Amino acid sequence: MKNIVVLVSGGGTNLQALIDAEKSGIIKNGRITCVISSKEGVYALERAKNNGIPTRVIPRKQYSSSVNYSEAILEALNEEKADLVVLAGFMTILDQCVTQAYAYKIINVHPALIPSFCGEGFYGLKVHEAVLSYGVKVSGATIHFVNEKADAGAIILQGTVDVKRDDTPEILQRRIMENVEWKLLPEAVSLYCQDRIDIIDGKAYVK
Ligand code: GAR
Repeated sequence: MKNIVVLVSGGGTNLQALIDAEKSGIIKNGRITCVISSKEGVYALERAKNNGIPTRVIPRKQYSSSVNYSEAILEALNEEKADLVVLAGFMTILDQCVTQAYAYKIINVHPALIPSFCGEGFYGLKVHEAVLSYGVKVSGATIHFVNEKADAGAIILQGTVDVKRDDTPEILQRRIMENVEWKLLPEAVSLYCQDRIDIIDGKAYVK
């Protein structure tokens, strides 16, 4: 059974999807053992507490640099004996001290079709604003491993939705969450926990 540590910064609907998937048996061979938040008071922490999952808060604003912050995260992950780290709406880019120590053990959900609308500065609603302003007709979400470059690690799963003429960033965000993120993130986590993801030449393939 793998220890899954989930990192959050906000409302935690993806965390909720993971909790529900664990309860209903969709996640095989893994359990969420800790939730770490980069902010105090976010609703994701309530979701963890409501489900008896231990929490930690490591506030980003208390650290002067990304490296210092990442070192604190690394220490916590080691203490929690994390086998898999899931970034579920975690809005801080982790330094390579973490991404190298946990290479191919950190999974992120990004709310667009990588390699479009991704990288530094593309997070949360900003992604959907950029999608709408460009006028693309299809968007979606990407589940990928995390490496030293923002949103550049091996892609595990992607799913699409249509972009509609009257969409607002909020409406599009919700369609992508409901149809893609909340389904594919638990699926990728389950595949990982069952050792069903191969890495070949830096690319991920589902067995
Ligand atoms: C989700 O849409 C997630 O894909 C996105 O933030 C939202 C968090 O929602 N993540 C990023 O933009 C990371 N670059 P949640 O807190 O309700 O899961």
